[in-house]
Amino acid sequence: MDDEGMTHTNPLTRYAGVLAGLPAGPRLMLTAFLALIGFGYLIAVANIFSHHANADGNDGLSIDDLRAVYSGMDVPAGAGAEVPSRMLTMLRGEMRQYASSEAHFTVLEGWLAKGAPEAGLEQGEGKITPRRVLILDCMRCHALSTGTEIAKQAPFGPDEFTPDSAMLVRFTAPAKSKSPGVVRAAPQYTLPRLILISHQHMLAIPMFTLAVAIVFMLSRVPARWKNALTPLPMIILVFDFSGWWLARVAEPFVYVIAAAGGLFSAVLGFQIIAAAVDLWRGPPRGGPGMLGGGAGGATS
Ligand code: HEC
Repeated sequence: MDDEGMTHTNPLTRYAGVLAGLPAGPRLMLTAFLALIGFGYLIAVANIFSHHANADGNDGLSIDDLRAVYSGMDVPAGAGAEVPSRMLTMLRGEMRQYASSEAHFTVLEGWLAKGAPEAGLEQGEGKITPRRVLILDCMRCHALSTGTEIAKQAPFGPDEFTPDSAMLVRFTAPAKSKSPGVVRAAPQYTLPRLILISHQHMLAIPMFTLAVAIVFMLSRVPARWKNALTPLPMIILVFDFSGWWLARVAEPFVYVIAAAGGLFSAVLGFQIIAAAVDLWRGPPRGGPGMLGGGAGGATS
């Protein structure tokens, strides 16, 4: 082979075959690891869909959902137009999980979209009124009497049975508008929330990205491919995390977030599958001694 000389100098070539040369025990462990990361990542993606798909008020995940979460959105103002408020944004995002039924969600969402008129608190579908939904689904965390951290920060009433209009209005009032004709809905992630989510994700995701990359480097995928693909996921993460922050100041960065998400999944998926296949593809060519790329290499 031409790159016989490289065999000893380029670790990407030199250690190719390490995986397949391992005894069955460690290979099983690595396979289980790759499977867990793969499925764990799929579940995380499903979670993104269920948490953010409705952020812009429409079903399905779109670039507008990313806008609503990370950068905020311009919405038309005026008669008949939806009134964006902090509570509407949160209900479509992170608080959606607490709406105990689709009907509860719809009633509260409809009331908020109309600008949360005080009289409307009692008007809903049959027995389900916005007031009831607040009491049944929200007040156990958002009533002052519960003493929770979030109740102090975002109280909806004095106790669990009394939604208070004066308190609610802080969250149901439309966003302040800068230019006529549009209102700007603030990003769903507040700054403290973004800081929390950033540090949680930044400490965890690069760790498994690194682990998968190392296993991938030890596979027999051609060195040129490994050279190109090994660094990609980690570099994409830099763009992804930066995008979360930059989208707050410049909306087009939501496209960076979207592209980063798709690319990261694709390359990570490839690394996982390639490594898993290599683990069970049989012993490396040239016999079991693998570090030198062949039995002869190690002893000469
Ligand atoms: C299990 C407790 C819990 C329940 C139930 C709950 N929330 Fe929340 N809510 C929270 C927490 C915690 C936060 C802070 C999240 C954050 O910082 O992003 C929050 C934040 C909010 C905010 C933003 C407050 C702010 O300061 O900007 C709104 C609005 C909100 N919730 C509305 C609702 C609505 C509407 C419901 C009922 C459908 C609901 N919540 C049910 C715990 C709860």
